[in-house]
Amino acid sequence: MSSASPEPPRLAVDGLAYGYDRRVLQEDLTFAVAPGEVLCVIGGSGCGKSTLLRVLTGLLPPLAGTVGIDGQDFWAADATEREALIRRFGMMYQGGALWTSMTLAENVEMPLALYTGLDPRGAAAVAAYKLALVGLAGFEDFLPAAISGGMAKRAAIARAMALDPSILFLDEPSAGLDPVTSHRLDDLILDLRRTLSMSFVIVTHELASIFRIADRVVYLDAGTHTMTAIGPPKQLLAESRDADLVAFLSGGESGGAAGAAR
Ligand SMILES: Nc1ncnc2c1ncn2[C@@H]1O[C@H](COP(=O)(O)OP(=O)(O)O)[C@@H](O)[C@H]1O
Ligand SMILES: [Mg+2]
Repeated sequence: MSSASPEPPRLAVDGLAYGYDRRVLQEDLTFAVAPGEVLCVIGGSGCGKSTLLRVLTGLLPPLAGTVGIDGQDFWAADATEREALIRRFGMMYQGGALWTSMTLAENVEMPLALYTGLDPRGAAAVAAYKLALVGLAGFEDFLPAAISGGMAKRAAIARAMALDPSILFLDEPSAGLDPVTSHRLDDLILDLRRTLSMSFVIVTHELASIFRIADRVVYLDAGTHTMTAIGPPKQLLAESRDADLVAFLSGGESGGAAGAAR
């Protein structure tokens, strides 16, 4: 398992700019995510966090720059290569809704049916395994309405993991969860990182979560439309001279975690 040379980054963003129509939300974004790394994306409400995930997961073309997945330039790839790259990552959107008329197992089986040649029995076995990975063994036949909000988030993560991604993108995974449930979700993320060496890019404004799970955070500044800081959250809190960032990381007011929650 061990190797002397460091593995290449799972995700490499270089000079990235994106926005809608002519409005640039963020520009000059450059960062990489290593295997097994948890990077949290933070910044005030509306600065472009969810949109960044759309650009990173192939839903919105960038205005400039590159998105590298396992060393391959996503937006320069042809349709076939792109299709293959898309299977290397999993995504849980803001809200993270499951298909309500399907059981948890059927939710996880859906991407398998769409993208793999697995027969129904094989897909059921994989779904049961993924649900077990997120602590939902035995809940295969439950409908989303019959489980708690925390369990639904776990099931959505299991669905995002259906195709064995090496990187997971999660948009506000702990939104709407109580602190205990949110803490358990953090544990799950740390478990998956440790056991499967999975990488994570997580949009969140939950400070407890940020300080617990993030190896590094990248701060997207709404005013200057670029990243003004990247690093371990404790170090940024201790050393940054950016008042907005320090306010954010200490749970302060303007542009901070409280603002992002609205
Ligand atoms: N499909 C869209 N078309 C045009 N503007 C959008 C679209 N989606 C989001 N926006 C705008 O882009 C800005 C950033 O949105 P978003 O990335 O969701 O912010 P965040 O997740 O950081 O709160 C917001 O002002 C939002 O209104
Ligand atoms: Mg958002």
